Amino acid sequence: MPLLPPDETGLARAADHLHDGGLVAFPTETVYGLGGDATSPTAVAAIFEAKARPTFNPLIVHVRDLAAAEVLGTFDAAARSVAESFWPGPLSIVVPRQVNGAVCDLACAGGETVALRVPAHPVAQSLLKKTGLPLAAPSANPSGRLSPTTAQHVAEGFPGSDIVIVNGGPCPIGLESTVVACTGDGSLRLLRNGAVSREELAERAGAVDDETEPQGDNLPSPGMLARHYAPRIPLRLHADTAEPDEALLAFGPDVPAGAATTRNLSATGDLKEAAANLFAMLHELEQSSARCIAVMSVPEDGLGRAINDRLRRGAAASVCPTDDLA
Ligand code: TXA
Ligand code: MG
Repeated sequence: MPLLPPDETGLARAADHLHDGGLVAFPTETVYGLGGDATSPTAVAAIFEAKARPTFNPLIVHVRDLAAAEVLGTFDAAARSVAESFWPGPLSIVVPRQVNGAVCDLACAGGETVALRVPAHPVAQSLLKKTGLPLAAPSANPSGRLSPTTAQHVAEGFPGSDIVIVNGGPCPIGLESTVVACTGDGSLRLLRNGAVSREELAERAGAVDDETEPQGDNLPSPGMLARHYAPRIPLRLHADTAEPDEALLAFGPDVPAGAATTRNLSATGDLKEAAANLFAMLHELEQSSARCIAVMSVPEDGLGRAINDRLRRGAAASVCPTDDLA
């Protein structure tokens, strides 16, 4: 699996591969994306296939700027204003698709809307400019697994594949983008907590309807399916002790002793540092021989909400035996 440097030659090779319908994993400020030409149903199908992703789950389409986004989606005043205040950056905006827009149906899972994002990462920006293509790019992990924050995570997730990886080092934010929907009635709906906190959104975009925990079967964003971000061994949340056969994912200065192995998201209790470390530390701990990963509580504010969302979804899939004792 070729690993390319993010220089002129590397980016030119990556762009050629994308034009040939191939897949290129590239860094964004949030996590690595598994990119393909969003206008090509074959390239997009290859993304779903590589990830073993259910085809009902639409992809985020990455573009170089708002002008390129407006060719693909319809922006009302609310959508344009939120785009102007957060792009380039870690916010994905779901808008109605342009009639006859170039994004293929499969990228939108056959729906009437498209999720668009202008990433700020210089390597992602260079690649978008070089290809001139809109790039469909979900996180570059097999479906349901941890998101990758380094080129090595990507390589480990797809052994033996012909995916090309542009190695831009670790992702600075380390947590996926926040997803909002602006689908025409002037309102803004929060579909996924992420790198832009709810507080920041409310401050810069006004009222936001929270739809991150929808009731019933009607999921506005298919990515809200509970089983997601799951490590290979179970998670035990809200741990304030640790057993000798557990790995401990700690947070803050007061760390219980006794775990087989420990990583601290942030010894100073800094949520930004914790977000940047989350997936990389879960990747490390899931490779230990521990029975489960005990996770200390993270405060439910700012970026903590997105961190807890990922942890809750990871834990939902599997119950750790010591939960009974908690
Ligand atoms: O930070 C990120 O967003 C990364 C980087 C690579 O950009 N990408 C990412 O993509 O996390 P993915 O595919 O793992 O998550 C996309 C989320 C899913 O929850 C999906 O259901 C939702 O966005 N989504 C995509 N298109 C949508 C649409 N048209 N309507 C509602 N939700 C949509
Ligand atoms: Mg993902």
